[in-house]
Amino acid sequence: MSTQKMQAQTDSVQQKFFAEFNRSVEALIERSSFFNKWKPGKIDSAVADKFLANFNVLVGSFPGLIALGVSRSEDEDMRAVLAVNLYQECGEGDVSRTHHAIYRKFLATAGVDPNKAPPENFTSEWRSSLRGFINGTPSSAAALGALATGEFLAPPGLTRIFDVIKPLYPTADIEYFTTHLALEVEHIEEMAMLLSRQVQGGVTSEEVVEGFEFGIDTWETYFENLSRYLFN
Ligand SMILES: [Fe+2]
Repeated sequence: MSTQKMQAQTDSVQQKFFAEFNRSVEALIERSSFFNKWKPGKIDSAVADKFLANFNVLVGSFPGLIALGVSRSEDEDMRAVLAVNLYQECGEGDVSRTHHAIYRKFLATAGVDPNKAPPENFTSEWRSSLRGFINGTPSSAAALGALATGEFLAPPGLTRIFDVIKPLYPTADIEYFTTHLALEVEHIEEMAMLLSRQVQGGVTSEEVVEGFEFGIDTWETYFENLSRYLFN
């Protein structure tokens, strides 16, 4: 096959992943009871504080999950893309600039104490579900698919969440939801390109989709539990 033809095939696989995965996260948001209740003017600062404190646990879990993906990588391409992603999450070596530090800066300037969140266990269930799958699946492409779910979900999900809470914290430093989120949008493109190269290299789309769908199920369970936690 010519290089040009291979490139064209990779591009179309990339577009397919990009479109399908975006559709899938949009559908999750549409049917989610959390997102259906999370509407402008409907959320008071007590509920918003509780959400933000809970989400702190997730933000702190992302680097470890990406690192698990790195450990599952069987080829250099997947390892390199995930390693760059991990490096960025870790503030490119500057511990005061990790994405978790940027998120904690939002919390501090918004006056939210993450240690005041009422106890729950669905967040650790979310983490162990993803950890278990990424570690345990025989297919490293499926592990990659499960990591891709969070990447695809972050920009549309966090944008909707932030639009609602922004007026509640007028003096907060919002870098996490602006500049940082723009970086996450770039990750979606990179992830779709990586997935298409994996398929070009011999993994099946089904493996990738299986992992992605597992991710969707895990995130959906998280949001349903979150909805009960916040609104009941
Ligand atoms: Fe991040």
